[in-house]
Amino acid sequence: MSSIKPVIRIKDLVAKYGDLTILKGITVDIMPHEITVILGSSGCGKTTLLKNMLRLYEPFAGSVHFWDENVLEMNEKEFDEVLKKTGMLFQGGALLNSISIYDNVSIPLEMHTNLDKDLMDKIIKVKLKLVGLSHAMHKLPAELSGGMRKRASLARAMALDPEILFFDEPTAGLDPITSESLDALILTLKKQLNMTFVIVTHELASIHRIADKIIFLDSGEMLFCGTLKEAEKAGIPQMDRFFKVGKF
Ligand SMILES: Nc1ncnc2c1ncn2[C@@H]1O[C@H](COP(=O)(O)OP(=O)(O)OP(=O)(O)O)[C@@H](O)[C@H]1O
Ligand SMILES: [Mg+2]
Repeated sequence: MSSIKPVIRIKDLVAKYGDLTILKGITVDIMPHEITVILGSSGCGKTTLLKNMLRLYEPFAGSVHFWDENVLEMNEKEFDEVLKKTGMLFQGGALLNSISIYDNVSIPLEMHTNLDKDLMDKIIKVKLKLVGLSHAMHKLPAELSGGMRKRASLARAMALDPEILFFDEPTAGLDPITSESLDALILTLKKQLNMTFVIVTHELASIHRIADKIIFLDSGEMLFCGTLKEAEKAGIPQMDRFFKVGKF
């Protein structure tokens, strides 16, 4: 038995919107320093799973442990401490359009720390350098390419040095070369900063490059969790189809 403990432990998680059940009871462990990819057809509940883990929507039933603590039993202040150790990049990026990239990265620092301006400035510049955007820090989001916007969102999500980063469709809408360089950046962050990633993606090439583990969702259930090699041999028809043609 491995002695490595999961960073996130999800048990019997049921997610609903009103009367509509989206996730019917998901049980899965997310291991540290790994890239876990959530896979499944459009509308199967991938984003819903991320949002329920982070309590953007309260799960209907089940438990979610981060670092061995059930976050569903925490009050807002306690859960805030957990959130500070995580970063989230939503589908679509969600940078504020009226302020510069530099100011966008400063938001989490202004909101969650009392650092003085000089130190904050240093941190912002380090994060922008990490994602290769030092030269563009004073630009507005609209003045950047799609790939640069994703990298800017990544710099903002990294502002508080998260241990776990959630990333919803990082390479969607990017050309293959830009996708590849974003994946290379994710792999560098994992290796150099020992980070844990939970990533939703549909891009087969990207999955081959980055995935340590795959979670496959279908009709509200988790049909598979394991390595890419195991996924390819699992004999699950919906997943086989995806690995053969790259779409559902
Ligand atoms: N806020 C909401 N209120 C009601 N229903 C919702 C809400 N958000 C999502 N849904 C529904 O829940 C289901 C799962 O949505 P979700 O966004 O989790 O899918 P997804 O797997 O992330 O899809 P995609 O690959 O298209 O991003 C869909 O049927 C969607 O219509
Ligand atoms: Mg989604």
